[in-house]
Formats: sequence, C-alpha cells, structure tokens
Amino acid sequence: MKKLAGKVAIVTGGASGMGRATVMRFLADGAKVVVADLNEQNGAETISVARAQGHGDSVAFIRTDVAREADVVAMAAEAEKRFGRLDIAYLNAGVGGAFGPIAETSVEGWDYTFAVLTRSVFLGMKHTSLAMKKHGQGGVILVTASIAGMVGGGGSHAYSAAKAAVISLIENVAAELGPDRIRVVGIAPGVISTPLVHRGKPERYEKQFKQQPWPDRGEPEDIADVAAFLCSSDARFITGETVKVDGGLLAQGVALWGTGADNTFMKSAGVNRGTTGETMVVRTLQSGERK
Ligand SMILES: NC(=O)c1ccc[n+]([C@@H]2O[C@H](COP(=O)([O-])OP(=O)(O)OC[C@H]3O[C@@H](n4cnc5c(N)ncnc54)[C@H](O)[C@@H]3O)[C@@H](O)[C@H]2O)c1
Repeated sequence: MKKLAGKVAIVTGGASGMGRATVMRFLADGAKVVVADLNEQNGAETISVARAQGHGDSVAFIRTDVAREADVVAMAAEAEKRFGRLDIAYLNAGVGGAFGPIAETSVEGWDYTFAVLTRSVFLGMKHTSLAMKKHGQGGVILVTASIAGMVGGGGSHAYSAAKAAVISLIENVAAELGPDRIRVVGIAPGVISTPLVHRGKPERYEKQFKQQPWPDRGEPEDIADVAAFLCSSDARFITGETVKVDGGLLAQGVALWGTGADNTFMKSAGVNRGTTGETMVVRTLQSGERK
C-alpha cells in the first residue's frame, strides 16, 4: 500500500522548486494533489509533468496568492470540491523578499515579505485546519521554514525574521491542534538548488551549494523526500517540530576554527589542560595519518 494512498494534499508554491518536487513525490506515494501557486505558466507545466507520469486524474491547479485570505479560502475549498476532503497542507510558497541594510529596507518591502512568508502560513493554518476538522480524521500541516529563521547570517533581515516567526507558529499551533490529531511540522532547508536561488544557472552558485559538510548539493528532491515522510503515518508522533534539512550546515556552526580539513582541531591531537600548569602533550598529525 502506498504511504499516502487515499490522502488529499495541497502544495502551495507547487509550480516550482521544492514544491514541484513534493507534488511529484506525493502523487507517486498515492495522494491526490492540488497545486496552488501565483505562477500560472509554471503551474501548467507542473500539471503536464504530472500527466506525463500518469497522474492526470489526481492533480489540479488553482491560481492562488497565499497572502490573500479569499484565495486561501478558495484553495482549501478546491481540494474538497475536486477530491472530496483535505488531509495534508504543505505551506511552502515563498520569495526572497526585501533585502539590503536595515536603513534601506522599506516598510512596503518588509510588509510584502511578511505577507508572503508569514501571513500566508497563518492563513494557511487557519483555513486548512478548518477543512481537516470537518472530517474529524486529523491531518498534517507542513511548513517550509528556513535555517535563516534559526540563526543569523542565513538570509536578509526581513526574510530571516519572517521565517523565525513561522517556526514559532509551528510550535504554538501544533499545541492547539494536537487534540484534533492535526500535526503541525516544519522543514528548515539549508541551501537547495531551486530557481529561487539560481534563476536557471545552478553552476554560478556552486560555492553556496557546497558550503555544508555534506559533499552533495541540496536538491529539491531532498526536501520532497522529508516532506513525504513528515506527512505520512511514519511520523505520527512528530508535531511542533521543525526539521533541519541542510547537509549539516547549521551543525557546522560558526566554524571559528575553520571547516573540514582546514579545521585547526583536525590538524593535531592532544588534551588541552588549560592553565593548570600541567604539561600539555600535542601531536601534530601528518595528512596521511588522519583517519
Ligand atoms: N531554495 C533554498 O535554498 C531555500 C532555503 C530555505 C528555504 N526556502 C524556502 O523554500 C520555499 C520554496 O522555495 P523554492 O526554493 O522552491 O523556490 P521557487 O521559486 O522555485 O518556488 C517558490 C514558488 O512559490 C510561488 N510563490 C511565491 N509567492 C507566492 C504567492 N504570494 N502566492 C502563491 N505562490 C507564490 C512561486 O511562484 C514559486 O512557484 C520558500 O518558502 C523558500 O523561502 C528555500
């Protein structure tokens, strides 16, 4: 039995990047999927890719601005109209938003960023949870946050603050909706090779893509696979959690002593006995000696 058989899902931002990859993964796992996005052309392309894979009857597109309440209401209604119910809402749509020094950030840019990245998640949680409560069999609300919402230096001021707010919403709303068996979970991607980052030229951003300890570039499918797990019953006891999917980028932290083989602590071995006056024995490691 496929893991999402009988489930009806919405994926916002499903016309591109990690959203599109997740649409394909949900369909492969047996779900019916409503793709909700502002970009109609890319939405149509997602639908034709799904059709070509034999999922034509299980997928629909609705033009949605996730920052507008009327659109979000229509989006939740579309899932019920087309496929009879709603079980999974992946609130993933996003943009880079306002950037620049704090003194150069306009109120309009700030508000746009929070409307698309944060108000959208509030509205999505509000209206998709109502749809899930109608059938009383629970559900999953998954949100794309970002590591930029967990630590400084991962994005612009407005983007990072908007994503931090979303991580807080995930925890608080999970506590409210637990008794209804509606799980609320998040994914915090690191650097993922999507059009949002590379605008069609992934090779130009190879340095950013390889910033993390894990040798492979983060791809949309790396997010889709975790999304499928979090939305399946395999994750039935996980709620209120935002999972980092970043190839170890945050685990690497501030990297004060360098990264990888250039990390000072990887070049020698010993025990630092502080200022005790005891002798400190240090052995320099030759490159061939490192295991
Ligand atoms: N790519 C990364 O490295 C990265 C890292 C961390 C978080 N994220 C987050 O991942 C999510 C998906 O981004 P992606 O990298 O796949 O980008 P993407 O540009 O490939 O896809 C984003 C989709 O969201 C849609 N969208 C934007 N504003 C919308 C709106 N108001 N209403 C409806 N749809 C809208 C776009 O049309 C697009 O189809 C975003 O929330 C982004 O902030 C991305």
